[in-house]
Amino acid sequence: MCRAVYPGSFDPITNGHLDIIRRGCTLFDHITIGVLSNEQKSPLFTVAERIEMIRQVTEPLAEAAGTRIEAESFDGLLVDFAKRKRANCIVRGLRAVSDYEYELQMAQMNRHMQPDIETVFLMSADTYSFVSSRLIKEIFFLGRSVGQFVPPIVEARLQAKARQRQSAPERA
Ligand code: PNS
Repeated sequence: MCRAVYPGSFDPITNGHLDIIRRGCTLFDHITIGVLSNEQKSPLFTVAERIEMIRQVTEPLAEAAGTRIEAESFDGLLVDFAKRKRANCIVRGLRAVSDYEYELQMAQMNRHMQPDIETVFLMSADTYSFVSSRLIKEIFFLGRSVGQFVPPIVEARLQAKARQRQSAPERA
């Protein structure tokens, strides 16, 4: 039984993440999507909102692939979470060479701490190699459509956040 943890901030989940999960379904029997909850940066979506979106958009994938997919928050070390989930792999997507250095360092440190858990990198599809949650939020709030890059549910949630901001603008 191959069990994987796919960790990240997922603020919010994008089509690039979904592509990695879809392809992960061909490799793993069970995938836990781990949403980091103790982030330094202030996220747009709460952990509960991110998990809810992930659950909604991954449900059809799990049904189609016959893979068990779950989404949970975690704090503390990723390797400890992976161990609790009885995972033998950590999955990460690699977009560009610029991702590589950081990912290599993390994978090596994680292997040092937990040698029995292997990090598996999946290369992003060309279509999503430039997509990140950070850029999605930036271009959305600067007025462009992000419909090609996120599932419709996520786009609707971004629109709801924008409406919230309009009705209660932050004080300068
Ligand atoms: O999507 P992100 O923000 O690039 O995900 C980063 C994440 C969650 C994978 C990374 O920050 C992480 O693993 N955090 C948990 C704390 C931890 O284990 N730190 C040591 C890493 S070697």
